[in-house]
Amino acid sequence: MMQHLLDIAQLSTQDLREIIELAQSYKKNNQWPPLLKNKWVGLLFFEPSTRTRNAFQIAARQLGAEVLAPDINLSSVSKGETIIDTIENLLAMGVRYFVVRHHENGIPQTLSEHFKDRIHLINAGDGTHAHPTQALIDAMTIVEKFPDPQALKITIVGDIHHSRVTNSLLEVYKKLGISRVCLVAPKIFQPTSRKEAHDFPVTEDIVTGLQDADIVVSLRIQKERLSGFVPDLDEFHQQYGVTEERLKLAKPNAWVMHPGPMNRNVEIASSVADGKQSLILLQSHNSVFVRMAIFSLMARVC
Ligand code: CP
Repeated sequence: MMQHLLDIAQLSTQDLREIIELAQSYKKNNQWPPLLKNKWVGLLFFEPSTRTRNAFQIAARQLGAEVLAPDINLSSVSKGETIIDTIENLLAMGVRYFVVRHHENGIPQTLSEHFKDRIHLINAGDGTHAHPTQALIDAMTIVEKFPDPQALKITIVGDIHHSRVTNSLLEVYKKLGISRVCLVAPKIFQPTSRKEAHDFPVTEDIVTGLQDADIVVSLRIQKERLSGFVPDLDEFHQQYGVTEERLKLAKPNAWVMHPGPMNRNVEIASSVADGKQSLILLQSHNSVFVRMAIFSLMARVC
């Protein structure tokens, strides 16, 4: 049914629901089918990762797979080998599933066009373009708290312009029927077009943005994608940090989400990150089940 997972755009609302339901059933049952037994999964991470890389590894192993997770810096990529040749060689050795994170936008698309149905490919984040599995994790987490999320107001605060998570999240919200979304950022971190904002409203005004929110999503400043100017982090916290005081502007008991990694006391106060309204570790917990669901839908087409 699913050959590759490149971005959210390829999924229908029904696909999205199917992934969430399968992930929920894996979470509930604690017993999983060995759908990837005797299969090799390769994790190719050209950028650092804690959550994505390890959750994919756990997910693959819980479905019975063998996992290869080479350190890219110690691979022959450092001698000039291309990513296509790297995958061709691993495929020749028997690796069929590839999870790829890359700093360049569009690499997963290029790979899928080259390899077609010879591999299964999952985009684990490409440049500023997409991070579909993170968005699916967040969708599962939202639905766990709000089974009918259509009426929610969700406010995203932080470096929206460089966030591949936001790009995928906004597509997910639309597919879940969530139309009340507010994007809050200083000018330098705002989307540069209506298309980039997926037609959702954008404001610099965090007070208005947070009012009446059911869910507040905090995003870190993506320093690795900034060329030149990096804002003063204390000033950013003063103006845009999700603090206990600011959280009071949202609905009572509003949930707080963050895809990670967090920069504590920059985009989010430690007391909020660790507070009773935080879903951050639930997002990490759910991440394994979503990734198991994605592998499972791919395994069905083999
Ligand atoms: N959310 C996320 O992609 O985290 P990592 O960079 O740690 O994988």
